[in-house]
This record gives sequence, structure tokens and C-alpha cells, in this order.
Amino acid sequence: MSVRRLAEDQFQPAAFAFNKENAIWAEKTIKKYPEGRQQSAIIPLMMRAQEQEGWVTKAAIETIADMLDMAYIRALEVATFYTQFQLKPVGTRAHVQVCGTTPCMLRGSEALMKVCKSKINSQAFERNADGTLSWEEVECQGACVNAPMVVIGKDTYEDLTPARLEEIIDAFAAGKGREVPTGPQIDRVFSAPEGGLTSLTTEAPKAKSASGKAASSAAAAKADAAPIPPSEAARAKSTDAETNAALKTPATAPVAAAKNVKAAEAQPLSGTATAEPVKAPASKADSAQKPSLTDKNRPAGIEKPATPDDLKLISGVGPKIESILHELGIFTFAQVAGWKKAEREWVDGYLNFKGRIERDDWIKQAKALAKGGEAEYIKVFGKKPR
Ligand code: FES
Repeated sequence: MSVRRLAEDQFQPAAFAFNKENAIWAEKTIKKYPEGRQQSAIIPLMMRAQEQEGWVTKAAIETIADMLDMAYIRALEVATFYTQFQLKPVGTRAHVQVCGTTPCMLRGSEALMKVCKSKINSQAFERNADGTLSWEEVECQGACVNAPMVVIGKDTYEDLTPARLEEIIDAFAAGKGREVPTGPQIDRVFSAPEGGLTSLTTEAPKAKSASGKAASSAAAAKADAAPIPPSEAARAKSTDAETNAALKTPATAPVAAAKNVKAAEAQPLSGTATAEPVKAPASKADSAQKPSLTDKNRPAGIEKPATPDDLKLISGVGPKIESILHELGIFTFAQVAGWKKAEREWVDGYLNFKGRIERDDWIKQAKALAKGGEAEYIKVFGKKPR
């Protein structure tokens, strides 16, 4: 953890003021808080000041403290506590915050910091030659399950390797940071297991009626002697729906569960109320149509050769993806290099890659590797394959 102090006087501007648009925004933001609690607006205001100036200056801290009727020391405490506030000028295109806490450290954050040292500056908080990049080590950023990771601006880049971080830094240096996909940098959806779900892959079991029997149809429910109180039915329905929705579709879960409760409450007290299981809405992954293995655009496979190429040399191919490619009969760089557009799209869809084959330019990489192995790759890309 670094010591967090204000920048030396030579960097500090004499004054700070929000520009017109931000001043209107700040006024509205302060009004969101109840009378006497305006100080709660300090973090959003400081963030906006940082977005405007590139970092949080002493003048900005004092101006914001005045706006919120706070002692300067209180505002200074906030600015120096949270690592999202930069207290001296940082890279204009990217300030890379590398998480160095235990899970990330065990998964390779030290190697990521080496990349920052070699590509940006040997010292944290110092900028590169043209002032566009800087870096620092920070504490846990709450994405430990996808360790190691870095934060750049408001985005996280997770499941990193040194090679992938180099590519990301290069993209930001070239002003193409917005093109880099955020979040996991491997075939993982959010923090789900790599390669897709490994559990909860089947439909939810049917809900049980109050009598303990599965109420799979109205007839079955009618056969139950005891009427099912609507509150029971509602509970049964909402429990299943909430469980399914929370596990599969967090964003829609509360709405789905609320609807279920309402629907169940509307049931008459006639004993015909059923505890029909409610299917959780299909998740994004479920609803994505995987291309068929018999599709005409599936690239032709071959028998496994005695010495298959190491497809993992292609940036974007890890052990899991390589094994899927093997299952498809893809074993050589030459095969990948020869894929036509429709075939690339088929593989991309099959791997649920969302365009990554094009973004990582597998074809160019595979062509170089097929032509002359690592030496040719270095000639073409100026660096070793991963
Ligand atoms: S330890 Fe790195 S994100 Fe938590």
C-alpha cells in the first residue's frame, strides 16, 4: 500500500472551479441529500472533479469542502483514504491500478506489476515518457474470483496474464482503450466457471404443494384433500423462482419473484391453487443460440496428427479453448489460418466469444505461426507469442 499524500506544490494549481455543466450537476447532486447531510455528496463531487481535471488537486478538495460546509481536514481524509482518487497527475490515457492483495498476488499480480514497470515506468505513480500512462499497486478491488486483475478508470480487466496486460496497455497507449472488452479476459461469463456452468444446468425441480406432493398439474392439486392457502402457494412459488432467478438471472430476479407472489395471491381459496413451478427466465448464456455441429459453416476437422500444433500460442486460446478446438478436429495453425469468414463466425459463436476471434486476429497469428513458428510470429508482431 502506498503512502497517499497530496502532490508537491509545484504541481498544484492555484484554484479550482467546476465547469458550467459540472457546477449544475454538483448543485443537483448536493440537493439529493437531506438538510444537514450535504456532506454525503463529497465522494461524487470529488469523482467529478477528478474526471474534469484528471486528478484531485488541493484546490479542488478545499473548494468542495467549502461547497459542503466541511472542515478541510475532513475532505482531505476522504481524498487520501480512497485509492480511486488520484492525488497527483496520472497518465492521460490510462492509470493502471494493479491489485496486489493476496488472491491476486497468488495468481500472478507480481508479474503484472513487472509488465507495468517495463512498459510504463519503473516507479509507481510516475508517468511514461509522453505522459499518457501511469500505474500503481492497490488493495483488493472486489474481483478476487477472477484474479489477477487491474482497474483502469471505472472498469476492471480480469483473469489477466502478463501477455494480455501488455496488449491492453498497448491499446490504451494507442488511444484505443475503449475497444478493449472489460471484465474477464478469458472464456468466462462474469464470475461463472470457465467454459460455462458446471452445476445448476438442469431445469428447477417442480415445487411441492403444502401436502408435500409435487403439484405438477391442476388435477394433481385438486386431488389434494386440503386446500392450499394462497400464502403457502405464494411462498412455494417465490422460493423456487427467487432461487432460480438469483442463480441464473440476477438482474431480473426481484421482478420475477414479485410477479410470482402477485400471481399466487390472486389464486382463489378453492383448493385448486397449484404450486406450479415457475421457470426462471432463460439466462443470456442459455438463450444464446450455439451453432449446430452439423452446420455447413463448421470448419472441417482432421484426425489428430502425431504432433499437433500448440494452439495455445495463439493469443486468446487457453487450455480449455484448445481442448474444445481439438474436439472439433482443429489441431494445426494451418487449419485456423485457412478459416473463411463464415467459418470464423461459426467458431466464434460456438465458443460464445462475441467477436474475439476477429479482435485477437487469430487468422493473422495462425498464418505467422504456420509459416515460421515463433520466429515468424516475432517478426510479424514484434513480440513472442503467449
Ligand atoms: S485480491 Fe485482487 S481483487 Fe480481491
